[in-house]
Amino acid sequence: MRLFIAIQLDDNIKEALTAMQAQLRSRRVGGNYTKIENLHLTLAFIGEYGAPDRVLDVMRTVPFVPFQISLDGFGCFGDLYWCGLAQQNELTAYVRHLRRALAEADIPFDRKRFSPHITLLRKASVDRLPGIAVPETSMTAERVSLMRSERGKNGMIYTELGAADARGTSP
Ligand code: 2AM
Repeated sequence: MRLFIAIQLDDNIKEALTAMQAQLRSRRVGGNYTKIENLHLTLAFIGEYGAPDRVLDVMRTVPFVPFQISLDGFGCFGDLYWCGLAQQNELTAYVRHLRRALAEADIPFDRKRFSPHITLLRKASVDRLPGIAVPETSMTAERVSLMRSERGKNGMIYTELGAADARGTSP
C-alpha cells in the first residue's frame, strides 16, 4: 500500500487553486494538471507500507490543534509547479512532531526537508515560470489524514484511510 499523510483542502481553497491552474492554461502551459479532487498538502510521504493502522496509532499520539493555512507564493521544483503556503509555525511544529513520532515507531518516510506546497501541475511544458496571481485564501486545518495512493485508469486515486484531529483518531 502506498501511503502518505496529508491535509485535505476545503472547496474554497481548491477553487482558488483551480483558478491558478486556469491562469496557467490560459498562458498555454501544458502538462499533467492535478485534478481538483486530488489537490492536497502532503506532510509526510511514507511510500509502500502494509500496516496503515500502525500509522494511525502513531498519528493519534501527536497532539493536534487546528491551525490556519494560507496560500502564498507560486514556484517550481523543475517541471513540477506548485502553490506555496504562508510561513506557519503551528504547521511546521506539527510536522516536526509527526515525523519524529514516525521515526521513533520505525515507520519509514521520505526524510527530505518539509517544504509545504500544493502541486498544481507536473511535467510542465514550459521552462520559464509564468507570472500568475495567487488568490488570498485561507482555511483552518481541522484534521490530518492518512491517504492511500493508487494508480487508476484515469490517473491517481487518493483515498482517506483515517484521520487524526484534536480529539484523537477516527477510523
Ligand atoms: P509532490 O506533489 O511534490 O510530488 C503523493 O504522491 C504525495 O506525496 C504528493 O503530494 C507528493 O508530493 C508527495 N511525496 C513526497 N515525497 C514523495 C516521494 N518520495 N515520492 C512520491 N510522492 C512523494
